[in-house]
Amino acid sequence: MYFPVYRPRRLRADANIRRMVRETSLSVNDFIAPLFVCPGRGVRNEIGSMPGNYQLSIDELVLEAGELKSLGIPAIILFGIPESKDELGTGAYDDNGIIQQAVRALKAEVSDLLVITDVCLCEYTSHGHCGVVENGRIDNDKTLALLAKEAVSHARAGADMVAPSDMMDGRVGFIRQALDEAGMDQITLMSYAVKYESAFYGPFREAAESPPQFGDRKSYQMDPANAREALREAALDIEEGADIIMVKPALPYLDILHSLREEFDHPLAAYNVSGEFAMIKAAAEKGWIDGEKAMLESLLSIKRAGADMILTYFAKEAARIL
Ligand code: PBG
Repeated sequence: MYFPVYRPRRLRADANIRRMVRETSLSVNDFIAPLFVCPGRGVRNEIGSMPGNYQLSIDELVLEAGELKSLGIPAIILFGIPESKDELGTGAYDDNGIIQQAVRALKAEVSDLLVITDVCLCEYTSHGHCGVVENGRIDNDKTLALLAKEAVSHARAGADMVAPSDMMDGRVGFIRQALDEAGMDQITLMSYAVKYESAFYGPFREAAESPPQFGDRKSYQMDPANAREALREAALDIEEGADIIMVKPALPYLDILHSLREEFDHPLAAYNVSGEFAMIKAAAEKGWIDGEKAMLESLLSIKRAGADMILTYFAKEAARIL
């Protein structure tokens, strides 16, 4: 009778040996916490589909950021909900816009926390698209100029890092050049290099009040069927000067994360998006899964696939456990 010489269970026998052979670990250093900032004072609106996440006015944002920092989280990424929206998303690049004010307040009141801003137009445009709309189409090159203005305006307000999420062609190089020309070569650029046109953004669009008012984002965000194209997108952003590249969403795209990890040695971020968060929360609420275990397993899997850092709505909850 065949008897195994190698018994894999020997390395799983108790907690100590499991700790010794563990290949991947999760820490608070891995997390970037997304926060939504809105006008007003004392506003703390819980987002229905994202329990534990809020639309925060600037005073509340400062408190929340202080708490995240005290939990050891190194960075936050900000999304703005402006007072009003228009065709060209002027709120995005207004030096007194919601993000610009928020960044200034954070920099004045919370020391030693890295502040990233999402650079996109969809939260600021009346049509909800990530670019300039002309004759029903998104004009790539007209959009670039506005994105560059937005990034420079965020950086002037004090942002440490900008993260363009619009998926226009050439935007990383365009923004990098604008920052450098404005004397801000120290600003780090994290590009949403590989961003898919995904159903998992649903809850975010409720949170940021940014769903497209006509059509969809298929002419600029990537087709979920494509993997080789992800390598081309990432290579372009690296050539154009991205410091960190991101894959978004995370869990349905772990294959993409893994192949980017193999192909490039730039720091790699993964965005564990709103829908991924909401699914775990909803199932846990129904008692169908153990929410805490599912959260930690998901985050660990994203790291195992190759991410160096994770943008996640679980940041605070996971940091409390770790
Ligand atoms: C803006 C942007 C989106 C997300 C991050 N930046 C939404 C979108 O593309 O519609 C989604 C994040 C999430 O779902 O958590 N373009």
